[in-house]
Order: sequence, then C-alpha cells, then structure tokens
Amino acid sequence: MTAQSITLIKPDDWHVHLRDGEMLKQVAPYTAQQFARAIIMPNLLPPVTTTAMAVDYRQRILAATQDYPDFKPLMVAYLTDDLDGKDLINGHQQGVLTAAKLYPAGATTNSSHGVTDIKHIYPVLEAMQKQGMPLLVHGEVVGDDIDVFDREARFIDDVMQPLLKDMPELKVVFEHITTKDAADFVMSAGDNVAATITAHHLQINRNDMLVGGIKPHLYCLPVAKREQHRQALRKAATSGHQKFFLGTDTAPHAINAKESACGCAGIFTAPHAIEHYAQVFEEENALDKLEAFASINGPKFYQLSINKDHITLIKKDQQVPEKTIDKGLSIVPFKAGEILAWQLQAD
Ligand code: NCD
Ligand code: ZN
Repeated sequence: MTAQSITLIKPDDWHVHLRDGEMLKQVAPYTAQQFARAIIMPNLLPPVTTTAMAVDYRQRILAATQDYPDFKPLMVAYLTDDLDGKDLINGHQQGVLTAAKLYPAGATTNSSHGVTDIKHIYPVLEAMQKQGMPLLVHGEVVGDDIDVFDREARFIDDVMQPLLKDMPELKVVFEHITTKDAADFVMSAGDNVAATITAHHLQINRNDMLVGGIKPHLYCLPVAKREQHRQALRKAATSGHQKFFLGTDTAPHAINAKESACGCAGIFTAPHAIEHYAQVFEEENALDKLEAFASINGPKFYQLSINKDHITLIKKDQQVPEKTIDKGLSIVPFKAGEILAWQLQAD
C-alpha cells in the first residue's frame, strides 16, 4: 500500500535567499512555517560581510517571522577578497555566524563583490579550517571561455580539488549541486565534504527550461543540466547518505525581473518546499529516506542538535497559486498553477 501520510522530524533548509525589505516580509514566513532553521544566504546589496551586519539582518528576519517564534535563522558571511578574517572568526565564536559563503566573482545574482581568486582568501580559510567553521561554496567557475553548462564540473577540477588538497580538514558544503560529477566528487571526498540538493534540480532538466519556449521561472544558477545529471542527483538525495541534505536555494525575484529580456536567475520554491521534495522521494520509492535528507544529515554535518518537533505530510492534492502577491510585489512560485500530491498539515 502506498503511504497516505508521513511524519518527520521537523526539517531544516540549509540554503535560503530571504532578501530584504518588502520581499523579506513576503517570503520569510513560508520558510519559517515549514523549517525549524534555515541557512540564510548573504547576497544582499550590499552583501552581509561583517558580524554586525549579520546581527542586524537577523533582527530583520526575526521581525518578518514573528508569527513563527521558534524559527531560527542561521547567519552566513559573504567572503570578499578583503574580508576581515578576525571579525569572521569572532562572529563564529560568538555564535552569530554559522558559516561563510564563497561566491566566485560574477557567478550569480549579486556576486560582483565575490572572490576573484581563492588564493586571496587562503589565510581566512585556514582560520576557518582551524575553527571548524563551514565554508559554503557556489561551485561554478566563470570565464568567457567556459560554457555555462560546464561551470560546475570545471569548478571541481580547478578550485575544489586544489583547495581540499591544501586544506584537507576544511568543512565544505558544495551548495546546490547539479551534476553527476559533483555528486560523485562529494561521495569520494572525506567526511568534511557534503552537498545540498534543491527540489527543482531533482525535478527539472534543461529541456524543461528550454523546449517548447523559454521558461524564465525555471532559470536558476547553477542552470539545470541534462537528464542523466538529474537522475544522479535523485539517486544521491534519496540514498539517505549523510553527505547529502536539503537546501532549497529558494531565490525569489519579482515577476518583472524574471519575465524580462534579461531575466534574473532564481527559482522560488519556498511556498511548498517540503512538498516538492516529498513528491520526488515518493516517485523514487524512498519516502523512508526523506527524514535523513531533510532533518538529520544537515544538523549532523553542522554539528547542531536534531530538532525535537515533528511535521506531518498528508497525501492530498493541492494547487500551487499562480503568484504570491503582497503590497504590489508579485512572485511566481515553482510549479505555479500545478497540482502537488502532498500537503503539509497545519499545526
Ligand atoms: C540566487 C539568487 O537569486 O540570489 N540565484 C539562483 O539562481 N540560485 C543566487 C545563487 O544562489 O546562485
Ligand atoms: Zn543560492
């Protein structure tokens, strides 16, 4: 018999873009409703580069999620070529900064302040290694000579392997992996290397984005790859292996910024994040592995406690709204207008 409901330890989302201002107020409650904790990406304008900025941003997030007082945002600093390493390590020791994020310069939305050459930040990375502070990486190399579909595979050879050779104990999360190459690399690396996988990369390949007309709401970075890569990601996520955990990379943009001649990268999965994952795990006959992926492997890697609360998902159709709108700001969610098989039960 197929499952009609499933109860899980409350999950965490290890990769979220909550933005700021009105957008933050609109999107943050979706994440806070489903997840106990979330790793908050720092790519604001200007980016969150200091402990003080992270403290302020956390306050704004808590104000936006006051209906969910148990929700805990975990803050991340954005690494730049000239970041103050002392402040970073202090911020970690004070419990303000959970991790630091490496955006190669120019790789994605608001990454112009990113690191131009990883060697520039070696002293900071060495201090992080010593502290056990995780490095979160946007694993893509950028360059005029590099095909956008090859950026992730190239990052493994050009950056990740040399980095781990120089710093074999550094805790690294390879964020939002999109290729078989990355899944294989993470499996072959030490226990200090793990990966997040998004719901959308488990569900779409590049044909979904391009065939029959270009679908701006399925465009994100790293861009979706060939079907064989999607299959490898599904295998990795549903294996329950401790190296792989849930990170939605929900990345909302206003509708006019997506439906544009030069549309922004990012898919807004937050409104039904856990339901999107449940669908994939059911399709793979692996609902029994969803709890490991969503609720256990992440805290284990980050050496945090596993949540005490539980959530229940029930097998019940629901339709994703065409848009979410507040104060004139419209955002189109992933699978807008489509029917989902699972529904998160209200508390
Ligand atoms: C993210 C964003 O919009 O901030 N976009 C995306 O496509 N995922 C940035 C990122 O994580 O690359
Ligand atoms: Zn992201």
